[in-house]
Amino acid sequence: MQRPIPNLRAIVAMDPAGTVGSCGRLPWHLPEDLRLFRSLTIGHTIIVGRRTFDSIGGSLPGRDCWLLTRRELPAEFQNSVRIFPDLNSLLLSIPTVPVERQFWVIGGVEVYRQLTPYCAEIIQTALRKRHIGDTRWQMPNDFSRCEILLRREEFITYRWRRNDIAEVGAVPL
Ligand SMILES: NC(=O)c1ccc[n+]([C@@H]2O[C@H](COP(=O)([O-])OP(=O)(O)OC[C@H]3O[C@@H](n4cnc5c(N)ncnc54)[C@H](OP(=O)(O)O)[C@@H]3O)[C@@H](O)[C@H]2O)c1
Repeated sequence: MQRPIPNLRAIVAMDPAGTVGSCGRLPWHLPEDLRLFRSLTIGHTIIVGRRTFDSIGGSLPGRDCWLLTRRELPAEFQNSVRIFPDLNSLLLSIPTVPVERQFWVIGGVEVYRQLTPYCAEIIQTALRKRHIGDTRWQMPNDFSRCEILLRREEFITYRWRRNDIAEVGAVPL
């Protein structure tokens, strides 16, 4: 585990088998979960892998977008996103931004794997039913559930905090 970055969090939705994606997309449509995603991330910075960026069709309104890619991006996107060709340059840039700014790692799996070791918290929407998919991720062991943010028929959304840190402050809802 790395030293946690207090203003870095991940947000993920997954089924009981850890399925998070299918053919490059989300395998489900949960409007309430999308609203929560929006309310948490709006006004902040999202960190996204190129495949997820492609699947959502570009950057999201009202949020700064930091994109991990080793490729040249089409000119239409170059003004709306900040591009990082490697993890280290992205990690070095986080402290250059005021700490009030939250960073949200929004996936996909390649990016969760590399960045959750630095996250202070993970917001996880746990779907109750299994879905068909081809992309899976498992919650890391070093986080514990500390709060339920939403409980609905199809899912529960938990806040997980890294075991080795004290409370890092409430997520604005
Ligand atoms: N359920 C959820 O909450 C959730 C959330 C997000 C995504 N998803 C799903 O996850 C799937 C996509 O995940 P994925 O793992 O295939 O792809 P991804 O993590 O979205 O993107 C992977 C790409 O990011 C770039 N990248 C990753 N690490 C990098 C690094 N250290 N330096 C530079 N570039 C780096 C590379 O882009 P280049 O190839 O351009 O170099 C790589 O091919 C989709 O099905 C999506 O729907 C689910």
